[in-house]
Amino acid sequence: MKVITTVKNMQILSCELRKEEKIGFVPTMGFLHKGHLSLIDRARSLSEIVVVSIFVNPKQFGPSEDYLTYPRDFERDKRLLKERDVDILFYPDIKDMYPTGYSTYVEVEGFDATLCGARRPGHMRGVATVCMKLFNIVRPHLAVFGEKDYQQAILIKRMVSDTNLDIEIVLSPTVREGDGLAVSSRNIHLTDKERKDAAVLYKSLLFGKNLVEEGEDNTDKIIKTMRKMIEGKRTARIDYIEVVDSKNLKLVKTINKPVLLALAVYFGRTRLIDNIIAVPARWNV
Ligand code: PAF
Repeated sequence: MKVITTVKNMQILSCELRKEEKIGFVPTMGFLHKGHLSLIDRARSLSEIVVVSIFVNPKQFGPSEDYLTYPRDFERDKRLLKERDVDILFYPDIKDMYPTGYSTYVEVEGFDATLCGARRPGHMRGVATVCMKLFNIVRPHLAVFGEKDYQQAILIKRMVSDTNLDIEIVLSPTVREGDGLAVSSRNIHLTDKERKDAAVLYKSLLFGKNLVEEGEDNTDKIIKTMRKMIEGKRTARIDYIEVVDSKNLKLVKTINKPVLLALAVYFGRTRLIDNIIAVPARWNV
C-alpha cells in the first residue's frame, strides 16, 4: 500500500492510474471500524484501484463540536488498510488541504431544513467542500458512502449531479453491532451504561418502521412512540427524531410514500445518528 501525504503527489498518481484502471474511492475521517471496511470491500468489488483518504475535516465541525476530541489512531488505521489490500492511502496535512487564505466553499441548497443539516450549521457545507476537493485530488471513477450518513450521501449525489462531476456515487448499507447499534467511530466514547442504552436507537427505528408497514400514516404518532422508547433510557437525550421523504429529505406529515425515519441522540456527550427506510404497505400494491 502506498501512503501519499501531499495533494500534488496524489493528483499526479491518480492522473496516471486512471488512464488504465478504474479508481474506487472511500473518503474517511479515520479511526476505522467495520463500517468503513465494508465500504472499502464495496469499492474493491467495483474497481481495480482502491484509494482511501483519512482526513479529519475541521470545516464540517461547529465551534462547540468534537473536532479536537474526534478519535484518531493513524498507525492502527494504516495497518487495517494494509490488511484489507487497499492500494493507496491518502493522508493529507491540514495546511495542504486548507492553506492560508483558503476561501472557497461548496453550498448545496436545501439541506439545512431537516435532520443534521438543520442542527449543525455549516456541517453540510463543510462536507460538500471537502468531498469536492477530495474528488478533484483523487479523481476517482466511483466513490462509496455509507447509508448511516444518509443525508450526507444524498447531498453528495446532488452535488455530483449538479456540478456534472463524472463520478458514480455508490451507497452501502449500515453495519451494525450484535444488538443493532450502528458502528461509528464515536461509539468509543460511550461508557458501558451509555453503550447499553444506545441499543435503543435501532430498536426504536425498527418499531417505527413496523408501524409504517402496518399502515400508520401519522408521523407525529410514530415519533411520539419512538421518543417514549428512547426517553426510557436514562443516559439518552434526544436531539431530533424526524420522518422525511426518502428522496428529497423534506419533512412528511402523512406517510403515503417511502420515508426515512432518522434520529440523532446524545448519550452523555456523545451524539449518535441512525436511520431506516420504511415503505408503507399500500405503496407496494
Ligand atoms: O463521513 C465521513 O466520515 C465524512 O463526513 C467524510 C465523507 C469523510 C467527509 O469528511
